[in-house]
Amino acid sequence: MQTTIAKDVEIRNAYKSYGANVILNGIDLEVKQGELLTLLGPSGCGKTTTLNVIAGFIDLDQGDVFIKGKKMNKVPPYKRDLGMVFQTYSLFPHMTVYENLDFGLSLHKVAKSEKKQRIERALELVKMVGLDGRYPRELSGGQRQRVAIARALVVQPKLLLLDEPLSNLDAKLRHELRAEIKRLQKEIGVTTIFVTHDQEEALSMSDRIIVMNQGKIEQAGTPTEIYEHPESEFVFQFIGKSNSLQGKIKSLDQQAVQVQLKDGSLVMVDAANKMRSESGYQAGDEVKLYIRPEKIEIVAGGSSSPLQNQHKARVSQMNYLGTSWEIEVAWQDHLFQVLCSAIDPNWTKGSEVTIGWKSSDMMLIK
Ligand SMILES: Nc1ncnc2c1ncn2[C@@H]1O[C@H](COP(=O)(O)OP(=O)(O)O)[C@@H](O)[C@H]1O
Ligand SMILES: [Mg+2]
Repeated sequence: MQTTIAKDVEIRNAYKSYGANVILNGIDLEVKQGELLTLLGPSGCGKTTTLNVIAGFIDLDQGDVFIKGKKMNKVPPYKRDLGMVFQTYSLFPHMTVYENLDFGLSLHKVAKSEKKQRIERALELVKMVGLDGRYPRELSGGQRQRVAIARALVVQPKLLLLDEPLSNLDAKLRHELRAEIKRLQKEIGVTTIFVTHDQEEALSMSDRIIVMNQGKIEQAGTPTEIYEHPESEFVFQFIGKSNSLQGKIKSLDQQAVQVQLKDGSLVMVDAANKMRSESGYQAGDEVKLYIRPEKIEIVAGGSSSPLQNQHKARVSQMNYLGTSWEIEVAWQDHLFQVLCSAIDPNWTKGSEVTIGWKSSDMMLIK
């Protein structure tokens, strides 16, 4: 069945270069009505450029931008009806919180009585009621970003664009504000594009994530799709931690691929976990294998659990992380990071254990 959810933003076939540097290299994306979409990727991959193309601060060399179905290529930023928040505080330092919010509204020719109501409501949304008389210098970093968000929202924008708004805050505040932004985005339902280079932030906040790399889109999907079914080696390595192995395909069929490592040991991978490869996969191909630390189990007694891959290994290091343990185990000449929620009190450095993992948790790439 055809889905009928409206697209609030569409970018089609977008290219942008500065001199010989190609910054956007064929971007196609859409943002659905009411969703919180995150652009995720390493520094310099083109996230801010993409956001600025949507906001109208940068013209494309080629391609189109649509907002609510209307082509926007030549429409200036102030006519696009957007709210923006940046990484660094963009509040006017000589204006109070109230005046900062009022300033944006004055440009929108809103009646005085309605202005007051809207400002109060916006401050309520970001939990800043009662602080409207303060100057930015009298606020903490987190409070300033709340005000910046309120100022973006008070004009009731068609779209909310957030460019790394949490990057300058300390870890605790960052966590708090993540949840806040997610809550208020759902509460008011404003279509939002959030930019970050922080994979955990993206996974925890987004309805959908677009992973970018060097001006291209690597993958678009829900947080679970991106984490559990990465389509490329780049996505796998950028999102989350991983252990890697190398070997040669010994045999493959519809269900599984059997890979032989240099030391002769065999590893089983589900056939469905072969990542995108132009030339397909054949026996004899050199391949890389990836497994995440939390997908590896340390099996007590090496027994009968349904793990297709099981190997004897030795504990080489144990790090306590508060709610979990990070354990390094040596298997042949490989070192594996394993993440466990609990450990056997008898394990110490040098203990012999059995490590195991499911063939469905391992990824394969040529
Ligand atoms: N005005 C500009 N002139 C030349 N190069 C630019 C300009 N703006 C951005 N770039 C380059 O484009 C690339 C992508 O930048 P940007 O979109 O800001 O990346 P991100 O936000 O993902 O870190 C970077 O290599 C940056 O140096
Ligand atoms: Mg940026």
